[in-house]
Amino acid sequence: MSTPRVIALDGPSGSGKSTVARGVARTLGWRYVDTGATYRAATLAALRAGVALEDPAAVAAAVADARIELSVDPDVPGVRLDGDDVAAEIRGPVVTGAVSAVSAVPAVRAQMVALQRSLIGDGAVVEGRDIGTAVAPAAPVKVYLDASPEVRASRRAAEGTVGDVPTVAADLARRDQLDSSRQASPLQAADDAVHLDSSALSADEVVARVLELARAAGL
Ligand code: DC
Repeated sequence: MSTPRVIALDGPSGSGKSTVARGVARTLGWRYVDTGATYRAATLAALRAGVALEDPAAVAAAVADARIELSVDPDVPGVRLDGDDVAAEIRGPVVTGAVSAVSAVPAVRAQMVALQRSLIGDGAVVEGRDIGTAVAPAAPVKVYLDASPEVRASRRAAEGTVGDVPTVAADLARRDQLDSSRQASPLQAADDAVHLDSSALSADEVVARVLELARAAGL
């Protein structure tokens, strides 16, 4: 089997994954797959269906009934749920507060991984938490991107959708704990991932590092 043309970019919220993944995809002319957006849309589907988030079977059924469409254009990212543009709503505090619970449900993960793999096509930069370990374990380039908690919280707060720095810092710490300790595909660096810390680097510098890794891998 030929090597898949996939760059896997994993790491916690605020590590700079989205900016970097889009920059790399744009330079290579590849697709950009934001897997977090699929979990956020799945969460909104469960909330709209009014199911109890503590009931994994009901959550999985609500997600199975939903139609989630993701743009893979790095210049025009977007997501639709049952035909509605939900790009803004999925970044708001209600979905952000519920997404760890929904993304911990194994049957939801199975559905989202199938969707994500179908979107990879013939070349994609894929960002998430489990890309190098579960979605695309054969990816020839795997990067685990991190940054200090202070830098991550200031970046997320600067986006202006989820509150001030202390509120965001508390929410990130809560989500890190949930995302890293869940049973199903926790946030985890693949054994063969290259670790990059973006705290003191600009987005362009991180993009350049990832492109170097891609060239070294013959992509
Ligand atoms: O990257 P993000 O903040 O938009 O991701 C939202 C949530 O989705 C995050 O709290 C964990 C979950 N997630 C996941 O479990 N697996 C992924 N591959 C991507 C995101």
